Amino acid sequence: MQYGYFDDNAREYVITRPDTPLPWVNYLGNEGFFSLISNTCGGYCFYRDAKLRRITRFRYNSVPNDDGGRCFYICDGDITWSPAFLPAKTPLDSYRCRHGLGYSVFEGEKNGVAAELSVMVPMGDACELQKLALSNTSKEEKHLTVYGAVEWCLWNAVDDSTNFQRNWNIGEVEIEDSTVYHKTEYRERRNHYAFYSVNAPIAGFDTDRDTFLGQFRSWSEPQAVKERTSYGSKASGWSPMAALRLEVDLLPGESKSFLFRLGYVENPREKKFSAPGVIDKQRAYVLLSTYNTAEQFDQAMGALKDYWTGILSRFTVQSTEEKLDRMVNIWNQYQCMVTFNMSRSASYYESGTGRGMGFRDSCQDLLGFVHLIPERARERILDIASIQFPDGSTYHQYQPLDKRGNADIGSGFNDDPLWLVACTTAYIRETGDFTILDEPTPFNNQPGSEKPLLEHLRRSVNYTMTHRGPHGLPLIGRTDWNDCLNLNCFSHTPGESFQTCSNFESGKAESVFIAGMFVKYGKEYAELVERLGIVDEAKAVLAAADEIEAAVLTHGWDGAWFRRAYDAFERPVGSCLNEEGQIFIEPQGFCVMAGIGGREYGVKALASAEKHLGNDFGLEILHPCYTTYLDYLGEISSYPPGYKENGSVFCHNNPWITLGYCSVKDGNSAFNLYIRNAPAYIEDRSDIHRTEPYCYSQTIAGRDAQNYGEAKNSWLTGTAAWSFVAVSQGILGIQPDYDGLRVEPCLPDQIKSCRIKRLFRGTRYEITVRRGENKGLMVDGKPVPGNQIPLTAAKLCEVELTL
Ligand code: BGC
Ligand code: NOJ
Repeated sequence: MQYGYFDDNAREYVITRPDTPLPWVNYLGNEGFFSLISNTCGGYCFYRDAKLRRITRFRYNSVPNDDGGRCFYICDGDITWSPAFLPAKTPLDSYRCRHGLGYSVFEGEKNGVAAELSVMVPMGDACELQKLALSNTSKEEKHLTVYGAVEWCLWNAVDDSTNFQRNWNIGEVEIEDSTVYHKTEYRERRNHYAFYSVNAPIAGFDTDRDTFLGQFRSWSEPQAVKERTSYGSKASGWSPMAALRLEVDLLPGESKSFLFRLGYVENPREKKFSAPGVIDKQRAYVLLSTYNTAEQFDQAMGALKDYWTGILSRFTVQSTEEKLDRMVNIWNQYQCMVTFNMSRSASYYESGTGRGMGFRDSCQDLLGFVHLIPERARERILDIASIQFPDGSTYHQYQPLDKRGNADIGSGFNDDPLWLVACTTAYIRETGDFTILDEPTPFNNQPGSEKPLLEHLRRSVNYTMTHRGPHGLPLIGRTDWNDCLNLNCFSHTPGESFQTCSNFESGKAESVFIAGMFVKYGKEYAELVERLGIVDEAKAVLAAADEIEAAVLTHGWDGAWFRRAYDAFERPVGSCLNEEGQIFIEPQGFCVMAGIGGREYGVKALASAEKHLGNDFGLEILHPCYTTYLDYLGEISSYPPGYKENGSVFCHNNPWITLGYCSVKDGNSAFNLYIRNAPAYIEDRSDIHRTEPYCYSQTIAGRDAQNYGEAKNSWLTGTAAWSFVAVSQGILGIQPDYDGLRVEPCLPDQIKSCRIKRLFRGTRYEITVRRGENKGLMVDGKPVPGNQIPLTAAKLCEVELTL
């Protein structure tokens, strides 16, 4: 069952009913100001940091779900309705929500009035714009009372929802013309404020939430709205808000539009006040005059659409598979941008108050992002490397506002360092920019500790080489990629974090997964330093990779698949010797991608993965699921069977298997797996899948779960980047490499031909792949041996590959 449809020409997903199984969300903003917006106009905004600079308030797990957000009310006679259905909940005569790239449009119609509410964050400015266009489609004159309202968050989202003894005393606002300024804590150390404004004279306002709502009432019908009035309340403590009221007359056929602006401003410390206690509003005035008319809004919207046209033109495919094209050309790349911006901080599942930017997460996100905006990828790599410690280990997370490592979580996630190699080599292969390796980059952000980025990579690689266990395999530390495989933590304290507790430093627990990573990325590092002429180091690292590969073949191979780990007592995990958790997906993916044991082992491991882990929605993370809590394995066994790391389809690692299939040249199996959870391919099962059909979710409940097939944790998942790598570099086979673009597709039988356009190092490659006689590569009409297109200074390069 579907709740909408893809409009590929408009690059939109059109939701045709408000009652989607869960809020279906979009992201607005690309730079500093970000908004989450659901298909009923819920959600919140923040500036850079979802924890420390939360602008509007949102209640996770609220009742009803997704309450608040941007509250618009249209009062027409006795009827009160909202263009996006919520918060008024009045049934609409028609409803559509069109989620586009960086904007959302809500079209609601009721009783002869049509509303179109378009919401976007413009490029280059810190504000959300909401254009409300109202049309009288009836034969009578209409007099409407219209409200736009938001509730302010007192900046720090954690304090905001916990420290009420303070919070309920500090709220402050200023009101000037049609603008409400939110200035809580501005009197003291903050030098930033927010505002909500409309480009027309208002008939009234409220800034105290409880006055606006009235006692015992909710967002669905505030007292002020019920009375069609405003109380002119001035917030003093409690919960400041901004409700702006307009009185609108519309003749039959007449339309009027209003532009609401929700802005964020930082002032220089010495220019905070224009008079004692009064905000200096100059910067807000500039923003307000930049976006003061519908035409200015439309221009900003045009610029945003052009921006996305430009970004997405860097990689496009035209094949016979409509859904493949849709994922590759629009939605997968869009999600890569979102995960790059957010890491795992703010979604409808991540509250934005816990995790900042993850080291491993952000490194992996870059793999699907680097071709979009290489300059931003470069900056991110240097930020990430700056939280590394001198011994090569690293903080696991950092807060985007100050970019400092998060001491509460600390380090010891032993896969982390190697991801830095993965993203840096991806960046250089994409750009050819070796100079990044010379960038002086601090350790632990300590001034004076700077070393060239290359030294950071060296220490990453060295960290794995020098931290190995009894079988010669890399030590797992607190965990590896699988945060829930906590082999050195024997937790018996309810609520204790499995990730930060390591109360059993065995010095023994080992990870076959990290071994696979090392063979892959250690070799990539060796290739890199060899190119730099550091031949001895290249040899040494290759020798270590050989050693670790041998250790995997001796101790990490279970007969038909790769084992997962060795626990603190040197017992295998992910082996047929275990009763549960006999096979895990991660090492099958990484060891096969790394080529461990060659094609023979690869084919066997992949077949075992499909046989034991395969379901309708992809491959589950492990099998059989753990049925009891096992302290020597940790969080993984804390989940009920079929959920999360205990046996769901953990979508992030499915593309590793897809890439594994590509490395053994099995295009049919690669594609068959790809389409089992690519969102556009399962759109018609939205009632079962339940999350958005235009983005990947982290997990899909496995066969052992009661709600088999139900997805959770949409948007912020490494699935986005890895799926894009799998489809673009694996299935379609367009691989950026140091000396040129490589074209090595691994297509399923059903795709007979396709055409790919790829911008690479300033050249636009137009690549036709087809099956036929005269196999081989033709570049600008001339045959070229192998599958690599030599670099060229030409702006355009025509390539034909016959398979
Ligand atoms: C989740 C993991 C996640 C970790 C982060 C765990 O509860 O299951 O998916 O990576 O928390 O802290
Ligand atoms: C989600 C986390 O963000 C990621 O870092 C981790 O690898 C996976 N969960 C698997 O546990």
